[in-house]
Amino acid sequence: MTASTDRPRRALVTGASSGIGAATVRRLRADGWDVVATARRADRLAALARETGADTVVADLTRDADVAALVAHVRDTGGLDAVVNNAGGALGQDTVEHGDIEQWRSMYELNVLGTLRVVQGVLPLLRERGAGDVVVVTSTAAHGAYPGGAGYTGAKHAERMLATTLRWELVGEPIRVVEIAPGAVATEEFSLVRFGGDAERAAQVYEGYQPLVADDVADTIAWSLSRPPHVNVDLLVVRPRAQANNTTIARTGV
Ligand SMILES: NC(=O)c1ccc[n+]([C@@H]2O[C@H](COP(=O)([O-])OP(=O)(O)OC[C@H]3O[C@@H](n4cnc5c(N)ncnc54)[C@H](OP(=O)(O)O)[C@@H]3O)[C@@H](O)[C@H]2O)c1
Repeated sequence: MTASTDRPRRALVTGASSGIGAATVRRLRADGWDVVATARRADRLAALARETGADTVVADLTRDADVAALVAHVRDTGGLDAVVNNAGGALGQDTVEHGDIEQWRSMYELNVLGTLRVVQGVLPLLRERGAGDVVVVTSTAAHGAYPGGAGYTGAKHAERMLATTLRWELVGEPIRVVEIAPGAVATEEFSLVRFGGDAERAAQVYEGYQPLVADDVADTIAWSLSRPPHVNVDLLVVRPRAQANNTTIARTGV
């Protein structure tokens, strides 16, 4: 939300070491934001800091103590105007019958409870500012099912409910809650992580059509954050033109 002072707005971006998160850091920095970028991999964050001038904090969002330290750092170094809850991902594509309990647990722990931890931590900081924005990057997987997807779609549906419920609970406060739901985005790691490092299987996800790229999603995040203060972009669904839904992709080569 637009701040009333002349100082740059400050955003916390999670999952900033690759893909959509890194693109969002680059985009917000280019737009004049101060940014705190967080993820687990220190080397990647250091490279992003050198490139963009973003402040960085190494944190595992599945750990209470890491998130507490992250929030304390943000509070002590200038506070916060917006948080982009982007860290997340999918593990495996097994049927419900053969779903791996540990993979389901990890997806819930990161996509849902990781976002919950960060939101709970930063809400007081946003209130201190008198206004603020909470962006949650869910997925079209938060809006529909597909065979083999229940572990991920279940977690993303829960994350979406977190965002929707939070918006309802905060009504009347000057805090916006924005859900960004992308379809297929060809990031360097999302499908690689999903398929346990199987590069061939990961590449197949994006074959035969033009998927979104991380910058496309960063663009929607930056746009949502730059609307006038009275405008809340509740939900922005963005897909490749070739993708009709989670299971229908026109692999026609364009
Ligand atoms: N790519 C797609 O097709 C797509 C589509 C719709 C929605 N999304 C959603 O968009 C978001 C970003 O996806 P992406 O494609 O950019 O994925 P990505 O390239 O795999 O990036 C995931 C990010 O999350 C971080 N992360 C993973 N586990 C973490 C943990 N325990 N604690 C803190 N950070 C952690 C990773 O960094 P470290 O490993 O360094 O911690 C990385 O920066 C996710 O929420 C994903 O579900 C993606």
